[in-house]
Amino acid sequence: MGVTLKNPLILGASNFVNNIEKLKQAEEAGVAAVIYRSLFEEQIQLEDYELSSQLEAYDERNAEMINLFPKIEHGGPKEHIFNLKQVIETLNIPVFASLNAVYKESWVEYAALLEEAGAAGLELNFFSVPRDFNKSGHDIILQQIEVLKAVKSTVKIPVSVKLSPFYTNVLKTVKDFDEAGADAFILFNRLFEPDIDVEAEKHVSPWNLSTHSDHRLSIRYIGLCYGNIGANLVANNGIYEGMDIVKMILAGASAVEAVSTFYHNGLGHATEMLKELEEWMDRKEYDSIDAFKGTLSSNSINDPFVYKRAQYIDMILKSEEYFNPVV
Ligand SMILES: Cc1cc2nc3c(=O)[nH]c(=O)nc-3n(C[C@H](O)[C@H](O)[C@H](O)COP(=O)(O)O)c2cc1C
Repeated sequence: MGVTLKNPLILGASNFVNNIEKLKQAEEAGVAAVIYRSLFEEQIQLEDYELSSQLEAYDERNAEMINLFPKIEHGGPKEHIFNLKQVIETLNIPVFASLNAVYKESWVEYAALLEEAGAAGLELNFFSVPRDFNKSGHDIILQQIEVLKAVKSTVKIPVSVKLSPFYTNVLKTVKDFDEAGADAFILFNRLFEPDIDVEAEKHVSPWNLSTHSDHRLSIRYIGLCYGNIGANLVANNGIYEGMDIVKMILAGASAVEAVSTFYHNGLGHATEMLKELEEWMDRKEYDSIDAFKGTLSSNSINDPFVYKRAQYIDMILKSEEYFNPVV
């Protein structure tokens, strides 16, 4: 997408950005770039609503105070922008911003603010839980494409799209965003999901960290997309080890974003992952990422069904090569 990275390992959007010391640790461990956590318009709306309710309650109790002091308003995205700027100023590696807004106007307004803050690029985090039984998936995609076009015509920095896997035809969606000007795709986002504590009979909200095998979904779609679109591909979800970076590049990714592995193994694990990648490249005598990027993509291999098999049909069950159950 036009940003040169020293290696393909990116620290994905996460709460690590709340702690500048952690980010410095990630940089020292070798990560090539950081995605600052998303600016969520919904969060600003909620905070704004809470603040207004608190002020109104106070209003009734003490009218004089309201007259004496200036009007208090929520700062909107100012706090997020302030913190992002601090991270950009502190780190020596590229910092990308991420955005999840509600209205088209806010997508554009906030994108401009994030660019102004100095972000190296902008990741559009498009997922929101559908709440309308009458709105079709196609309508949602069309709206998102309109947002992408509007953002692209507003900012000069590269714009990537982070997608969830919940599209009936991911390939058509990727192609449509590609034609609308996306500079890169992050496949795939992992979303927050509610759980239920059955003893307490109430909802709980645990972090939804990935497991190692989750990266296979990315392998499939990166392998299917590589060579068929203009944008770069970035793998995300379940990337835990150096060999996962290798797999993603073989399938066609230019880079990977990792988060859960760092919550499990600490940020220092980046050094280990990069060492594994380097050792593998040495052993295979590859002197650059481009030398093996996409060599196992769908377009580059003879078996067109590798990426398309999704059902456990007899042919797979009988083949030891494809099916080696671990018991
Ligand atoms: C604590 C936490 C905060 C996250 N915040 C964001 C966010 O603000 N924006 C976003 O697009 N993804 C966010 N994510 C999702 C991650 O960027 C990533 O897509 C997901 O965790 C899958 O990658 P992984 O398997 O390496 O964890 C967050 C994940 C975690 C665990």
